[in-house]
Amino acid sequence: MEEQPKLFTREELKSRCTRKDAVLIIHNEVYDVTKFLAEHPGGEEVLLEKGGQDATESFEDVSHSSEARSLMEKYKIGDLVEADRVQSKNAFAPQWSNDQAQEQGNAWTSWLTPLLLGVAATILYRYLFA
Ligand code: HEM
Repeated sequence: MEEQPKLFTREELKSRCTRKDAVLIIHNEVYDVTKFLAEHPGGEEVLLEKGGQDATESFEDVSHSSEARSLMEKYKIGDLVEADRVQSKNAFAPQWSNDQAQEQGNAWTSWLTPLLLGVAATILYRYLFA
């Protein structure tokens, strides 16, 4: 059942940007949206504009719903060859690193506050009882 995904280069996809044959690259995956053009709630124009190209940023700019994300599975035809993939930078990475930064921020403040309170209490104690 598991088929090897077909691999494409960015170069060979470039010209596939017409109503008769439209593909998109999103998160290093390749989608044939020819049949989806007319159904896309955002209109066919935006898809054709990105036809044959990397539409990851435009796709994420719109913050598509999880429904849209599962819908796109239907149109997937393969992946980019390893050499043409964008490594994590403009894919899911920004969200991840934001989350991480936030977590780190929280972790930092979560022990900084008790530490400062401890220091303050020590100073106060010494001041009062020394
Ligand atoms: C296979 C790829 C795509 C699928 C399956 C898809 C699907 C959808 C769906 C289901 C919606 C309705 C709102 C939602 O559920 O989020 C939507 C809205 C939209 N999409 Fe896409 N989309 C795709 C690619 C793109 C790309 C590449 C762009 C931009 C270049 C784009 C631009 C928009 C815009 C602007 C809307 C908002 C329409 C509105 O709210 O008036 N979409 N898309």
